[in-house]
Amino acid sequence: MSTPHLTILGIETSCDDTSIAVLDVAGSRYSVRSMVTASQVLAHRKTGGVVPEVAAREHAATIMPTLQAALEKASIKLNDVDAIAVTSGPGLATALLVGVETARALAFATGKTLIGVNHISGHLASCWLNDEQPQLPALALIVSGGHTELLWIEKEKIKLIGKTRDDAAGEAFDKTAKLMGLPYPGGPELSKLAQHVKPSIPLPRPMMKEANFEFSFAGLKTAVARYLELHPRMSPRHKADLAASIQTAIVDVLVDKTIRAAKVKKPKSILLGGGVAANSVLRERLSKDSVAAGFAFHVAPIQYTTDNGAMIAVAGAMELARGHRTPWQKLDVNPVWELGR
Ligand code: KG4
Ligand code: ZN
Repeated sequence: MSTPHLTILGIETSCDDTSIAVLDVAGSRYSVRSMVTASQVLAHRKTGGVVPEVAAREHAATIMPTLQAALEKASIKLNDVDAIAVTSGPGLATALLVGVETARALAFATGKTLIGVNHISGHLASCWLNDEQPQLPALALIVSGGHTELLWIEKEKIKLIGKTRDDAAGEAFDKTAKLMGLPYPGGPELSKLAQHVKPSIPLPRPMMKEANFEFSFAGLKTAVARYLELHPRMSPRHKADLAASIQTAIVDVLVDKTIRAAKVKKPKSILLGGGVAANSVLRERLSKDSVAAGFAFHVAPIQYTTDNGAMIAVAGAMELARGHRTPWQKLDVNPVWELGR
């Protein structure tokens, strides 16, 4: 029996990346035919963070050229696409609206199948963009600018088992980097500064040893602010030590809590997703500790960890396989859509 073959367009505009991908689906195997991403980093660097109105205007200006480029790179026409998947939440309402209204118009004009996708389920689905596919049930750690969540994944069900009580892991990177005077977005800048540096500054690891599945990063930010007050003039070497110490504190908490949850829940695999999964120290530590504890480990290739259209197309393909569709009349944005509740 031949496996069904589909071509899916994935559209992502929930925050500060306009990203569109063309995905080939053969049964449960996914391959990215093209992906084009217009980053808004320069637009938001001036303000040191994302201003929703500015993000939405940037998405509006770039979405059609991005679509055209993604189709051209895949050597297909819009009509060759079988379905359109779009992030409909969570995220910035006005930013989401640009992707959702574009997808709705495309579906109306072409009659193609439409599916609204949860952004976090996209990050989760990015773990299927490897040759080796995760076995279920799985425990997933999703870490981004707005989310830090532990999810329990079964074939037909996703359950939120723990999350942050305050700042997200990406937010902890971004806010401490900003305190250190690093440009937006702070996470990659801070990790660049920390490269090849052995951390020596003691910083708190909030809630690390508590027997629950929750996280907290606000205390770390406060500790870094206090440290900077006490050390107003730091040498480049001292700054790099602080960056490495912050990164280690965040990674220690994420890895320790995830492995502890895995030992309780006993999944077949541990998954890592979200923009912070681009952090090489986190990837390596969670991979090593997962395998040492007897769990298979899966994370997307780095280009599919930060916000991207490919992961949305994969999540869309999974929804379609479950028989879900969103008629264009019913598609709506849900900026606070929580997965697994
Ligand atoms: O998933 P994502 O692209 O957007 C949201 O959905 O929020 O995640 C962005 C977050 C930001 O906080 C960014 O600083 C962080 O991911 N990030 C990193 C790295 N690359 C991106 N954090 C640490 N190290 C990195 N290499
Ligand atoms: Zn994201």
